[in-house]
Amino acid sequence: MNFHVLTLFPEMILQGLGTSIIGRAISKGSISLEAVNIRDYTLNKHKKVDDYPYGGGAGMLMQAQPVYDTWKAVREKIRARGGNEENVRVVYMTPQGKNFCQSMAREFAKEEDLILLCGHYEGIDERVLEEIVTDYVSIGDYVLTGGELPAMVMIDAISRMVPGVLTNEDSGETESFSNYLLEYPQYSRPEVWMDKRVPEVLLSGDHKKVEEWRLEQSLEKTKKLRNDLYEKWVEENQEYFIKKEKREARRLKKERKKGKLI
Ligand code: ADE
Repeated sequence: MNFHVLTLFPEMILQGLGTSIIGRAISKGSISLEAVNIRDYTLNKHKKVDDYPYGGGAGMLMQAQPVYDTWKAVREKIRARGGNEENVRVVYMTPQGKNFCQSMAREFAKEEDLILLCGHYEGIDERVLEEIVTDYVSIGDYVLTGGELPAMVMIDAISRMVPGVLTNEDSGETESFSNYLLEYPQYSRPEVWMDKRVPEVLLSGDHKKVEEWRLEQSLEKTKKLRNDLYEKWVEENQEYFIKKEKREARRLKKERKKGKLI
């Protein structure tokens, strides 16, 4: 996966994503990241990239020309590398876009190249957006000062879904949202900390029991914190509750039998 970020603040992107797991993925070559400075493509002799909005109103707008020429330069680079520049998606980060979620991250991770366009000031001239943008994406219902943080959030979440980025130890599929459920609680050494014991089942060595416990914990937590996700899971996993009921019935029958025998 090759990320191309069109921005007025390339250092923000490169510094923000240069460390930890994403930094390692870039060094390994599992993903590549370039941040292209829109200002480098302005034809204005004072390097200006913004102007007042027609019709008045607060703030400045990013102009069409520098954005369009940056996009053209990136497409040309992709073409020269033998990539499929005609079909490269261009994502504009905007609070007016579709809310970003895990399934979107998984979809975007299938792309070979992805262009992320970061706006600043009051936004970007509509005409260039109409011309180049394929996807409008928001990272939540609040307004940030620019698209760089949202672009970083997207790149992080998408990269985790790219094969080779996570090591075997941290497979992306077992975690929160991969199946609507929030992650179960986890514990590490010591066994007792501030009088709090690690749940007994995790020390039992019984993998089946551990798996069952973790699923129950996930369900409980999701129901409590994100009932919307819980209901989606329930809808798609009816057989879990049927099996659980049968298990419970078998257990009760066994217990009754034992009771009679004693
Ligand atoms: N730009 C400013 N705020 C944003 C948000 N919430 N999501 C995406 N891009 C933005």
